[in-house]
Order: sequence, then C-alpha cells, then structure tokens
Amino acid sequence: MTTTATATLSIRRFEANDTDAVVALWQQAFPEYRDVTKPQRNPHLSIANKLATQPELFFVAVLGERVVGTVMGGYDGHRGWLYSLAVDESLRRHGIGSRLVAHVENALAALGCPKLNLQVLSAKSDVRAFYEALGYRADAVVSLGKRLGELADSPPV
Ligand SMILES: CC(C)(COP(=O)(O)OP(=O)(O)OC[C@H]1O[C@@H](n2cnc3c(N)ncnc32)[C@H](O)[C@@H]1OP(=O)(O)O)[C@@H](O)C(=O)NCCC(=O)NCCS
Repeated sequence: MTTTATATLSIRRFEANDTDAVVALWQQAFPEYRDVTKPQRNPHLSIANKLATQPELFFVAVLGERVVGTVMGGYDGHRGWLYSLAVDESLRRHGIGSRLVAHVENALAALGCPKLNLQVLSAKSDVRAFYEALGYRADAVVSLGKRLGELADSPPV
C-alpha cells in the first residue's frame, strides 16, 4: 500500500453495521475464533458485550468503505486495557496497527487512565515484537484468569 492510500485511512467508533466485516476480520486474524473447541471465543458475543460496556472505546480503522482494523479499550478507574487489535492480513506492516494503538491510548489518556495493560499469547512472538516497537514492555507479573458464568469450565485462554 502506498503512503497516499494510508492517508485515506480513518479511525472511528464501531457501528452496528460494521458487525459482519469485523467478525470476518477477527476470523481471519485470530485462529481461535475458527476453533470449534473454544466456544468461549464467540465474536458476536464479544461485540454485544462491548456495545453494552464502554462502546465508545471500540474503534475500527476504515480505508474507503472497508473495515481493515479493530481495537477495543477499557478503563476500570485504575488501569486501562487493550483488546482485539487486528489488521487485515493484506494490509499489515503499513502502520495501521500502530495508529489503532495510538488512537486507543489517546482515548484512555483523555479519561485520565495512568497505565495501559495488555496480554499477548506467549506463542505470538511477532505480536510481542510489534508492541515492543511501540514502547510496551513486559511487566514482572504472572497473568491469572478465571472464567465466570456458563462457560466457567472452558479452557482458561
Ligand atoms: C499485530 C498487528 C495488529 C500489527 O498490525 P500492523 O498494522 O501490521 O502493525 P504496524 O505496521 O503498525 O507495525 C509497526 C511496527 O511493529 C513491528 N512489527 C509489526 N508486525 C511485526 C511482525 N510480524 N514481526 C516483527 N515486528 C513486527 C515492526 O517494528 C513494525 O514497524 P515496521 O513495519 O516499520 O518494521 C497485526 O499483525 C495483526 O493483526 N496480527 C494478528 C492479530 C493479533 O494477533 N493481534 C494481537 C492480539 S494481542
């Protein structure tokens, strides 16, 4: 993609009629969304939950009419979190992921959020390299999690 093409990229809030494009993008970018043994990975439920909680922190990157990237943020009054960062496979390494991260960082900073956390699956060393290029560093913590509700018996990740 040329610089001229990236110049037309815009980032805006997710809208309900982006749903099909976002689900298709996530199924391409996150293999776990195609894994039938992981019912907890349900993109429609993820979208519905986000629309019910801080929908103003769910963003899409759009090139012309086409949704080419996503990112979700959250702020709980103490820490900010970043989720669901994805860029269309055919458009990677052109700065779109960096722009999405900067966008959510700015939105969280505007809310007074002092620190942004995120988790990367340990197997994804390329994604870790991406975040390190943007100034993120591993914290000396172990990430623990526990599922709640109907899917409490699903695998942890
Ligand atoms: C991670 C992801 C969002 C990056 O998006 P992107 O638009 O390609 O990223 P950028 O072009 O802004 O990359 C910025 C810099 O990060 C680093 N980087 C990006 N992808 C990298 C990779 N695969 N390997 C090593 N470094 C990488 C480079 O330093 C890059 O700068 P450069 O291209 O000038 O060398 C994209 O690869 C993706 O959608 N991956 C699949 C979904 C996923 O795993 N998301 C993360 C969930 S935590």
